[in-house]
Amino acid sequence: MNAFDLTGKRILVTGASSGLGRQCAITASHYGATLVITGRHQGRLMETFNELSGTGHQWLLADLTKDSEILRLVGDLQPVNGVVYSVGISDLSPARFITGADINKTFTVSFNTSVLLTSSLLTKKKLVQKACSLVFISTISTRYPFVGGAMYISAKAALEAYARVLALELASKGIRSNSICPAFVKTPMLDSTAENYSQEAVRKIEERQPLGLGEPEDVANAVVFFLSDASRWITATNLILGGG
Ligand SMILES: NC(=O)c1ccc[n+]([C@@H]2O[C@H](COP(=O)([O-])OP(=O)(O)OC[C@H]3O[C@@H](n4cnc5c(N)ncnc54)[C@H](OP(=O)(O)O)[C@@H]3O)[C@@H](O)[C@H]2O)c1
Repeated sequence: MNAFDLTGKRILVTGASSGLGRQCAITASHYGATLVITGRHQGRLMETFNELSGTGHQWLLADLTKDSEILRLVGDLQPVNGVVYSVGISDLSPARFITGADINKTFTVSFNTSVLLTSSLLTKKKLVQKACSLVFISTISTRYPFVGGAMYISAKAALEAYARVLALELASKGIRSNSICPAFVKTPMLDSTAENYSQEAVRKIEERQPLGLGEPEDVANAVVFFLSDASRWITATNLILGGG
């Protein structure tokens, strides 16, 4: 028996229209999972959908900053055995320029969306199956911060704390909750960092990672481990994927 096999598990992935969420969905489908993928941009979400292995998958458009769209998404879901939370934005700003509007924007997308989606999932009876695995994509920057990352990193640190509380609250139901904390990975988010700052900034980031920049597969493989029964005794943890 392959302990990493995801056959028979239905996995919801947020942020599945791009980057890490897209790759997590694709890799999980290679391991046999049935995917429900969500994002805002239909074209990009369909690109992910078309790359999934196997059949029976579902795509659902939703802007997770809107309560009504979370409710609609949850209303359309069948029971899930795992959730990967990859929704996020990385708005960067030197600390002295941060405004209330900036904080609201970053926390709304990178924290509130995942928390409010989870509340909706948990309040609908039997939607979150026993032994379900919740996997939150945080960042290594909560341990090793960078200049300009105050809002982004604070929102992710809050998400990690939330994931650990969930682990305690849900352990009696066999539901697990863990965070994965990647260093910098080649995705559109990193491309926009290069655009908004400079290639030089990305080169400096790369220098801090002895094994270089990550590939989305490097994160997706770890996510598969957390979704699978191979990690059934692991909860409330934060896995650092740092490339050294
Ligand atoms: N890339 C890295 O180096 C890195 C490192 C550590 C952690 N992370 C974390 O990993 C996660 C994924 O990052 P990524 O690099 O894959 O970024 P990405 O390519 O920019 O993807 C972000 C995803 O979030 C979705 N999204 C944004 N706002 C949304 C909203 N209001 N409602 C629903 N979906 C929304 C986007 O959907 P649409 O495209 O449909 O708008 C997209 O699918 C993020 O949480 C990020 O903080 C990334």
